[in-house]
Amino acid sequence: MKKYISANFSNLGFIFAISILLIAGIFSFVNLTILIESNNQVSQTLLTLTKLEETLTLLVDAETSQRGYVITGDEAYLEPYYNAINSETGVRRNLEELQSLTANKPQQQTRLEYLIPLIDERLKVIAQVIHQREEAGFESAQAIVLNGGGKEMMDSIRQTFAEMEMAENDMLVYWSEMSSVNLRNTMIAMTLGALLSFILLLASFYMLNREVRERRLAQTDLHQLNQELDKRVQERSEQLVEANQRYVRVLDTMLEGCQIIGFDWRYLYVNDVVANQGHITKDRLLGHTMMEVYPGIDETPLFTTLRGCMQERKPARIENEFTYPTGEKGWFELSIEPIAEGLFILSIDITERKRSEEAIQQQLYRLKSLRAIDLAILSATDLRLTLKTVLEEAKTRLHADIVQVELFNPGMLVLETIGTTGNHTEEMQSLVTRLGDGINGKTALERRTVIVDMIEEDESDDPFMSVLIKEDARSLYSTPLIVKGNLIGVFNVIFRKQYQADQDWIDFFETLAGQTAMAVDSVKSFEDLQRSNLDLAIAYDTTIEGWSHALDLRDKETEGHTLRVTQMTLRLARIAGLSSAELVHVRRGALLHDIGKMGIPDNILLKPDKLNPEEWEIMKKHPDYAYELLLPITYLHPALDIPYCHHEKWDGSGYPRGLYGEQIPLSARLFAVVDVWDALRSDRPYRQAWAEERVIEHIQSLNMSHFDPHAVEIFLKTINK
Ligand code: C2E
Ligand code: SIN
Ligand code: SIN
Ligand code: FE
Ligand code: FE
Repeated sequence: MKKYISANFSNLGFIFAISILLIAGIFSFVNLTILIESNNQVSQTLLTLTKLEETLTLLVDAETSQRGYVITGDEAYLEPYYNAINSETGVRRNLEELQSLTANKPQQQTRLEYLIPLIDERLKVIAQVIHQREEAGFESAQAIVLNGGGKEMMDSIRQTFAEMEMAENDMLVYWSEMSSVNLRNTMIAMTLGALLSFILLLASFYMLNREVRERRLAQTDLHQLNQELDKRVQERSEQLVEANQRYVRVLDTMLEGCQIIGFDWRYLYVNDVVANQGHITKDRLLGHTMMEVYPGIDETPLFTTLRGCMQERKPARIENEFTYPTGEKGWFELSIEPIAEGLFILSIDITERKRSEEAIQQQLYRLKSLRAIDLAILSATDLRLTLKTVLEEAKTRLHADIVQVELFNPGMLVLETIGTTGNHTEEMQSLVTRLGDGINGKTALERRTVIVDMIEEDESDDPFMSVLIKEDARSLYSTPLIVKGNLIGVFNVIFRKQYQADQDWIDFFETLAGQTAMAVDSVKSFEDLQRSNLDLAIAYDTTIEGWSHALDLRDKETEGHTLRVTQMTLRLARIAGLSSAELVHVRRGALLHDIGKMGIPDNILLKPDKLNPEEWEIMKKHPDYAYELLLPITYLHPALDIPYCHHEKWDGSGYPRGLYGEQIPLSARLFAVVDVWDALRSDRPYRQAWAEERVIEHIQSLNMSHFDPHAVEIFLKTINK
């Protein structure tokens, strides 16, 4: 800021000084010009005066000689005559010069204009005198002079010369005065200019001097400061070195690995722990780059992280798997911190922790497998499907090539292949073994795990083994499937490479076999249960059909109304995308849609006329009656939607609950269209059947008010087919 201002000031001072010098210079120059001009005028006037006098002298001389000659007749007197009329040096020439000298003086010009003819006249007379003297002699020349009577003319000439001289004298005085005034002014201007320049120069010198002195002082200060600083840096460095040595001692004794890596990736410092962790000596590390010590390290993700930390100067914390040159592996947790020298890395050996983590992961992985099989058992409805899930799980988790299950058939006393997974031939799928024969028979009979290594060398006549040889199998693990003490089959795990299982694996293998046994058993029980359920369902549906038929008869509706609306509703429901499980309930619901009319007295239900408001109130109760009637039958719960909701309307104006839009179950929305369609095409006690076109028009007219537009769309498409 200060510097900026002073720079501005010095600029201003410079401009100011230059301006003053310029003005003084201009002033001197103008005065000098005027002085030169007035001097010119003075010398011109002096010249004019000289010329005037010379001219007059010439004329007077000629006049005088004329007279002398006339009186004496002496030839010598004629000399001035010649001079006066000579065009080179004579009067004429002087007059021309006078004219040019007084060109800018109008008064003198006027006088010259007056003078020149007079002088011309005089010169002509003189010329005539000279001519006469040469031609006719003295007497005739004397006569011209005497008769010429030029006295007045000469007086007039003399007077004009005198005037001109006076005028020039005045001019001389005037210009001389002007000249001295201008000379004085010029001197003053030049002196002032010189004085000012001198003052400015002095001031500049003074200021320059002061600056130089201050600068010298500042330099001295700076020098002292530098010395002070040097001293302090020296002191600090010594302290730092001491501190560093202390830190190094601390790092040396730390339990964690500590290393300092330079910007050129050289190991600048490592403690003993790092050397131990790396199975290497400190000498092999110190002074060498990481790439030299561990060739290829610069291609690893670890190095990518280190490079990032080095370049961006940011810390990081990573877990790194380290492979020793021997191929052994270890895990290290590395804390990387950027420091002045490069990077500081703290390393902790976490190999043990990682190992136990891996073991836990393995355990978790196996638990998940058991859970998946449990789920398959819980939701089991199909033995083959369940087995497929279980076998896939087992193959993946046990890292096997083929898993196979044979089921015990107690009637035939044979083991029949029921499920396989993995790549294998057809033959594998259709294997049957008699209990007690071959490896599987042995597993089943002895109820223990049997392990076969080097299958390829088997020479028995066991058909299972020959199939395995064809499958290019090497190792077999076979274990019985037992539930509640009963043998239900055999579980085989096959490898195409030699597989040396550890105890951990065998435990897991047997657990999986136990789960598989339970899965197979539970599916078998479920299938048995389903078979009895099916019998029950058939009995129920027969009953339902009987009910609805009885209802049709009572309502006096055209025989088959219920069956027709049921068929049509099922068609619409299928198009609407309901599942086959849902369709079962739709069918039952449609069959029972007006079951509630069982609670409507005959006099209302069968009235051959319009219902009055009280009767209508009772009639509107039939969906509620249906609900109450069917609710206690658990089996029919999923079929309640149609009987309870078939009189609800899309716009909410229906009964019994006034549901609207998609609050009304889809099946009931579809059914409502079908029910009205079939009711109108039939005779009722209170009206005749309508024509088909009228019915369709009627249904279209109720689109969006009574009916779901989607249901109407599906209905119209179905009807048109
Ligand atoms: P429903 O005969 O099975 O008729 C089912 C639905 O088809 C009726 O529901 C109505 O939406 C439509 N529907 C049937 N016939 C006609 C008709 O002639 N004109 C029109 N526009 N729509 C018709 P809704 O109206 O809720 O009636 C429910 C039940 O009440 C009917 O079942 C029927 O048993 C009885 N019902 C309705 N109106 C009368 C009536 O005027 N006299 C008698 N005796 N019973 C009636
Ligand atoms: C390294 O020196 O950068 C790796 C060795 C270790 O992980 O301790
Ligand atoms: C049904 O289960 O009967 C139909 C399902 C539905 O209403 O959305
Ligand atoms: Fe109804
Ligand atoms: Fe009906």
